[in-house]
Amino acid sequence: MKPIIAPSLLSANFADLRTDIEMINRSEADWLHLDVMDGVFVPNISFGFPVLKYVAELCKKPLDVHLMIVDPVKFIKEVKDLGTMMMNVHYEACVHLHRTIQQIKEAGMKAGVTLNPATPVAMLTDIIGDVDMVLLMSVNPGFGGQQFIEHTLDKVHYLRELIARSGSKALIEVDGGVNIDTGKRLVEAGADVLVAGNAVFKAPDPIGMIHSLKSL
Ligand code: DX5
Ligand code: ZN
Repeated sequence: MKPIIAPSLLSANFADLRTDIEMINRSEADWLHLDVMDGVFVPNISFGFPVLKYVAELCKKPLDVHLMIVDPVKFIKEVKDLGTMMMNVHYEACVHLHRTIQQIKEAGMKAGVTLNPATPVAMLTDIIGDVDMVLLMSVNPGFGGQQFIEHTLDKVHYLRELIARSGSKALIEVDGGVNIDTGKRLVEAGADVLVAGNAVFKAPDPIGMIHSLKSL
């Protein structure tokens, strides 16, 4: 099975988003990954809903929204109003994760749960049957262009086992430092979805890079 490819807009040219989104529309990208940061949960601020409203209008691919914010449950309506397909919340940001997952699904979106590099896969044992996707961070969230944390490959293996054991249908997405080399190893380990920021948007030929990732 070919991986699902989700380029991350965080590495795009923010002064010329139209050009980059039209490139994504023409490419073999499956989804567009959108990183929302609040400067509290992570040490950076990216873009918010007023910007994403226009991004969503231009983008023809399903939106995969990754909220790196405290209290993401407060923004379910704003995320839904973008036409979002998948809403990802951090395990570390949700005290009542089970309720939050149900609310995302009741709003008509797919629900993803995200783990920081230091959070063990085992923490998902009691929620894996309820989620549509697990997003494993392979860098500490907040910035594009960081180096891939190798231990993520072990986490993909643990998560594959957990999913098989529980009968869950959750997809495994990996985010951070993904390129042709790490992407290939992640797919071999059992990843379903690859997020790529710098690897795509800083490539001389982004459409060709998306094609190469899709062909892994
Ligand atoms: C980081 C974000 C990522 C980021 C990945 O906090 O969640 O989606 O854009 O960027 P690269 O692929 O450059 O590591
Ligand atoms: Zn992300």
